[in-house]
Amino acid sequence: MSHNLPDRLVRTVQTLLACTMLLGSYAGAAEKLANVTILATGGTIAGSGASATTTVGYTAATVGVDTLIKAVPELSNVAQVKGEQVFQIASENMTNEHWLALAKRVNTLLAQADVDGIVITHGTDTLEETAYFLDLTVKSKKPVVLVGAMRPGTALSADGPINLYNAVLLAASRDAVGKGVLVALNDQIHSARDVSKTNTSTPDSFKTPELGLLGYIQGGKPYFYRASTRKHTVDAEFDVSKLTTLPQVDIVYGYANVGPVALNALVAAGAKGIIHAGVGDGSLAATVKPALVAARKQGVVIVRASRVGQGILARNGEANDDELDFVAADTLSAQKARILLMLALTKTSDTKAIQQMFYTY
Ligand code: SIN
Repeated sequence: MSHNLPDRLVRTVQTLLACTMLLGSYAGAAEKLANVTILATGGTIAGSGASATTTVGYTAATVGVDTLIKAVPELSNVAQVKGEQVFQIASENMTNEHWLALAKRVNTLLAQADVDGIVITHGTDTLEETAYFLDLTVKSKKPVVLVGAMRPGTALSADGPINLYNAVLLAASRDAVGKGVLVALNDQIHSARDVSKTNTSTPDSFKTPELGLLGYIQGGKPYFYRASTRKHTVDAEFDVSKLTTLPQVDIVYGYANVGPVALNALVAAGAKGIIHAGVGDGSLAATVKPALVAARKQGVVIVRASRVGQGILARNGEANDDELDFVAADTLSAQKARILLMLALTKTSDTKAIQQMFYTY
C-alpha cells in the first residue's frame, strides 16, 4: 500500500497531463484560421482622390493589394490572408479575356488544399457581371466573394476597409460553403445571379430588389436567410479551362424611335448572339423586328431580355418566340443574359437547349 500510493499519484498526474495536452490541441484546432486569398483587380476599392471629400472624380485602381491588406490589420483576426494582384484596372475595362484568366486562376487556387476561400476586389461598375461569370465557371464549393467600394480609400467614411473585412470573414466562413459566388458590400450578402448595382454613387448601391438578398454580416459573423434555387459552380456545365476566347455576344437597347442600325452593325461585325434589352416585357419595335428575324436566319441566336430590371421575361408573351426561334431571358438582366449566352454558345447553338439553360442558371 505504501509504495502503491506514489504509483497511483504518478498515473493520475500522467492522465491529467494527457487531458491538458488533448484540450490544448482542440483549442489549437479551433483557433486555426481559414486561408483566404485576396485576388485584386482594381476599381474604387483600390482608388484614390485629391482630398478626403473627393467621392466622385477620383482615380480608380491606383493602390496595390498589399496596401489594401495593410490598411485593415483586423483581417488577421478572421483569416490567414494572402494577396495577389491579378489586374489593376477600372472595371469598365473588364473583358472576356480578363474573365477567362480570372476563372482559371480561381479554379487553380481552390483546387489547393491550403486555400479555403477567395475574395476578389473589383470595381463596382461591372462587379455583378464578373460575379455571375464566376458563378457559372468556378468548379468548387469553397467560398468565392466579390467585394468593391463606392468611395475611394482616401475619402471620409471610405467603405472599402469594412467591406474588405466583411468579405474576408465571409470567405473564411463554413456558412458560405456551397452557396455559389457571393457579393458582399454594405454589410449585405447577395447572390451573383441576382444582384445589381442600382445607384451611381451611394454606398448602399448593391441590391437584389425583388428576389432578395441572401443575408447580412453583423458583429463579425455572416447570417444567411435564403439561397438561390438556380444551379451554379460545381453544378454548372460550363468548362472554360481550355478556352482563350468567348463567342461574340452584344446587347441592343430598346427605346422610343429606335431603329435597326446598331443591331445590323453588330451582326455585320460578327456577333454570334444578340441580347435584345427591349422595353416592357421585351417588346420588339416594328423597326427592329425584321432585322432580328434576318439575323436569326443567318444563325445569330437572339435572346429577348427587358430593360425594366425586374420580373420574368415571358416566353411567347410580347413576341412569338416559338415561331421566331428566339430565347427568353427569364429574370436575367441583359448584361447577365449576355454572359449566359456566351457560355451557352461554347456548348451548343440549339435554341431549345439554350432556352433550357436560361431556366436552369
Ligand atoms: C470601377 O468600376 O472600376 C469604378 C467604380 C467603382 O469601383 O465603384
